[in-house]
Amino acid sequence: MSVEKAAELLSSARRGVALTGAGASAESGIPTFRGEGGLWTSYDPVKVSSIDSFMADPVSYWQVSKDRGRVALAAKPNQGHMALAALEGAGHLVAIVTQNTDGLHQASGARRVIELHGSGRNVRCLECGTIESRQDVQDRLNVEMPPRCRACGGALLKPTVVLFGEPMPVDAVMAAYDLARQADVMLVVGTSLVVYPAAEIPLVAVRAGAPLIVINAKPTPFDRFAEVVIHGRSGEILPEILSLISA
Ligand code: APR
Repeated sequence: MSVEKAAELLSSARRGVALTGAGASAESGIPTFRGEGGLWTSYDPVKVSSIDSFMADPVSYWQVSKDRGRVALAAKPNQGHMALAALEGAGHLVAIVTQNTDGLHQASGARRVIELHGSGRNVRCLECGTIESRQDVQDRLNVEMPPRCRACGGALLKPTVVLFGEPMPVDAVMAAYDLARQADVMLVVGTSLVVYPAAEIPLVAVRAGAPLIVINAKPTPFDRFAEVVIHGRSGEILPEILSLISA
């Protein structure tokens, strides 16, 4: 059975790396981007989530981000997040590389979390550089649209996430590639693997000889490179794998 095979691979891992995406947070109530009910089925990402569209019209950006931000700020880690943190705590994973900006891996107690797409927990003023917590900005979105910088009064407050068209955080990408090259198991959880360079990371690990485990609700383009493929909900499957390892 696949969960047994996944448990077997992970139980002997000492340099395992996990790559996660929006599917890992779906059971925490945060909608994914693609597929059923995904954000990009309602909005054009280039129109509402690119740096150009943000600079041209921050109000449209914040009108979409307002709801997503409210949901993300209220979200709690699910059993999938907890199981990954436990696999790290038990020494099977050395890091969780995530495309998510919700901070739920950190909230689950995971120690080494590499955020490829930045963090939605903070907001930076693009005019004076002042950083505020997303919660503080979120609290005034009902009266201020776009929200204004508390320090300079500017109207270009942007969450510290990587928007389409923005450069990736070099340190995070370099660290993720290094970890993938040295991985003894690569675990992919809840991502459609269509956005680069994040989607390249599992391939770097496979090319370096690591077995690949894919846990995703739907088939991904890299299932054919995987030793284990499990199509289902990560919040149910990961705890099952963990229970087999700790049994
Ligand atoms: N458990 C496991 N997988 C799930 C679950 C679940 N409970 N729910 C959904 N999925 C799967 C979906 O089938 C889909 O393949 O998670 C995947 C999520 O894919 P996307 O919505 O494309 O999210 P992601 O891969 O993280 O997107 C990458 O694209 O829009 C940008 O910056 C954004 O970081 C994001 C990047």
